[in-house]
Amino acid sequence: MRASVLREYGGPEVLRLEAVTDPEPGDGQVLVRVAAAGVQFVETQVRSGALAGTPLAPAALPWTPGREVSGEVVAVGTGADPALLGSLVAGQTPRAGGYAELAVLDAAAAHPVPDGLSAAEAVSLLGTGRTAVALDELAGVGPDDVVLVESAAGAVGVLLLQLARAAGASRVIGLARGSRKLRLAEEFGADTVLDYGAPGWSAALGAAKVSVVFDGVGGSVGREAFELLGPGGRFVTFGFASGAVTELGAEEAAGRGVEVLSYWGPPVGPRGPEAQLRQTRTALGLAAAGRLRPFVGATFPLPDADAAHRAIERRETVGKTVLLP
Ligand SMILES: NC(=O)c1ccc[n+]([C@@H]2O[C@H](COP(=O)([O-])OP(=O)(O)OC[C@H]3O[C@@H](n4cnc5c(N)ncnc54)[C@H](OP(=O)(O)O)[C@@H]3O)[C@@H](O)[C@H]2O)c1
Repeated sequence: MRASVLREYGGPEVLRLEAVTDPEPGDGQVLVRVAAAGVQFVETQVRSGALAGTPLAPAALPWTPGREVSGEVVAVGTGADPALLGSLVAGQTPRAGGYAELAVLDAAAAHPVPDGLSAAEAVSLLGTGRTAVALDELAGVGPDDVVLVESAAGAVGVLLLQLARAAGASRVIGLARGSRKLRLAEEFGADTVLDYGAPGWSAALGAAKVSVVFDGVGGSVGREAFELLGPGGRFVTFGFASGAVTELGAEEAAGRGVEVLSYWGPPVGPRGPEAQLRQTRTALGLAAAGRLRPFVGATFPLPDADAAHRAIERRETVGKTVLLP
């Protein structure tokens, strides 16, 4: 099969299409002919080498990135239900290997693709969908909340806006850079949109307080967002797209009555394997019921995985970015 392979860390060009040995499903696994594979922001950080030595980086190179796939089951391993053969499934691979024509999934993590969802849409609800559901649960968003979402036109962002709306939040504020992204944030449920391209963006909110911040950008943006939280506020941190995490002192947050909730734990409750499967089913189910709108902003042919990474790094993408083998 063909797969996008990383042999060294570096710029997007280090992702190269190669002919590699077909993977084989192990015990309790299925083999999927990949129709769509998700690209995650963090994979650009892994590829560059910025995360080398951390648990997010591969144990060794060469390595094929990608954890979100959907497609037809073309083989089943021992212990996996043969009735899965021929079915359309979507799921997260145990480790990586998604940027490829074939990928292996644990049968337990192979969710049926709901009617009405394309392979690419299903992919946008896997790691990204379950993350958004987990973050929403972690924050416990309710009708009294004023929710602020950073990179609101991004893959996680458009889902968080919708989940906050669905939870009845009294106000949803979307932050993004540039008019195109701000329009999208409005389309996906933000009442108020702010361009955080320049420091001081929060002045436009006046004295308004925020009760929940979803921080996937970190750095100075996360810091400025934190300042908007009053007593009872929740600062939910789950990423550092800016390259730096938000620096917060535990005592500083406690002194202001703000709870800091990290997606990375501890506790790791919302990310345990059972919780992840449930949250993925929730995301797919909400979309199937028309209550969560998946948004695939761009697709790239598999050989152009480098272009997909470049677009993400240049902040040109909106919604989910998907590779089509
Ligand atoms: N997708 C997942 O499954 C998942 C899971 C766990 C954690 N996360 C984390 O959640 C965050 C968002 O992930 P995502 O997949 O939804 O990505 P995304 O929001 O679609 O893309 C990242 C966005 O971050 C913003 N950004 C701000 N500063 C940036 C910078 N210096 N360089 C590049 N982008 C910058 C950009 O939006 P603006 O131009 O509007 O600023 C950019 O489009 C990431 O930190 C990611 O690691 C994601």
